[in-house]
Amino acid sequence: MRILVADAFPDEYRAELTAHGHDCTYVPDTTGSELPRTLTGHDALIVRSTTVTADAVEAADSLRLVIRAGSGTNTIDVDAAARHGVHVCNVPGRNAVAVAELTMGLLLALDRNIPDNVADLRAGHWDKKRYSRARGIHGRKVGVVGLGRIGLTFAERVAAFGAGVHALANPNRDEQTRERARAIGTVFVDSLDELARSCDVLSFHVPATAGTRLMVDRHLLAQLPPGAIVLNTSRGDLVDEDALIDAMESNGVRAGLDVYADEPAAGTGTVDSRLAKHPNVYGTHHIGASTEQAQHAVAAEVVRIVTAFASAAPSDAP
Ligand code: MLT
Repeated sequence: MRILVADAFPDEYRAELTAHGHDCTYVPDTTGSELPRTLTGHDALIVRSTTVTADAVEAADSLRLVIRAGSGTNTIDVDAAARHGVHVCNVPGRNAVAVAELTMGLLLALDRNIPDNVADLRAGHWDKKRYSRARGIHGRKVGVVGLGRIGLTFAERVAAFGAGVHALANPNRDEQTRERARAIGTVFVDSLDELARSCDVLSFHVPATAGTRLMVDRHLLAQLPPGAIVLNTSRGDLVDEDALIDAMESNGVRAGLDVYADEPAAGTGTVDSRLAKHPNVYGTHHIGASTEQAQHAVAAEVVRIVTAFASAAPSDAP
């Protein structure tokens, strides 16, 4: 297949695709607006952050497969792809540990004020008293919204720190998830409001869908105890950012965020987000999945999908 790799992709996995007989064009900095032109003549597209719009899908005469080298497909117009008979695959789960580790990092950073602490010391200030008010993680209640691969992996790390894991009851979970949740003593509650009311920390691990859009709204934020921590390493669409700023100002809520409603589409750009600049926020650059381990695991799965697709009949999805 003629494959366009439009985002950074580890060399050895590109070499593997070539070794399997595919013709790889590597343009790692392709932007969403360049994609319609760059895609011409390719059968498959591998993307991570680059947005795949209906225009790109429509302009791509021979495109048959789009692979999102990550969990979410919210950056791809899947309806346009379906209309044009283009298969869309994602790679869920392979970056779960990486995202869980970053979420844990944001929690620890907030509890101990690590970034401000470091910045003050770098500026030559020594203020032990100012930084001696952490509450600690042990014994706290952490609500995990979404016990999928990432949420559960985060929950296990939280439990290892001696915090109580709380989650929403859901009769549709598979037995393996139920077993892992039981093993860490997860306490199940019936509603998101109840979770917000009873927890010191609320961490979101759900995909961006019509049902999860703005789920962190004024109503939910009003249920949180004073000084609660909100963590979001899933998708920015989940959060009403103005409501979160108000909750920070009125109720001392603090937030650890890796994702935002409006992110520069390419890997670099400028941001002018009131939220990211707020002193109650420690924000990172949507880097949850950005560990070497995760990117290699994702790339290996992408190669598997391409191989399966190429060897299947044209109408079969891998
Ligand atoms: C994902 O969907 O897995 C991540 O958000 C990938 C990324 O870093 O863009």
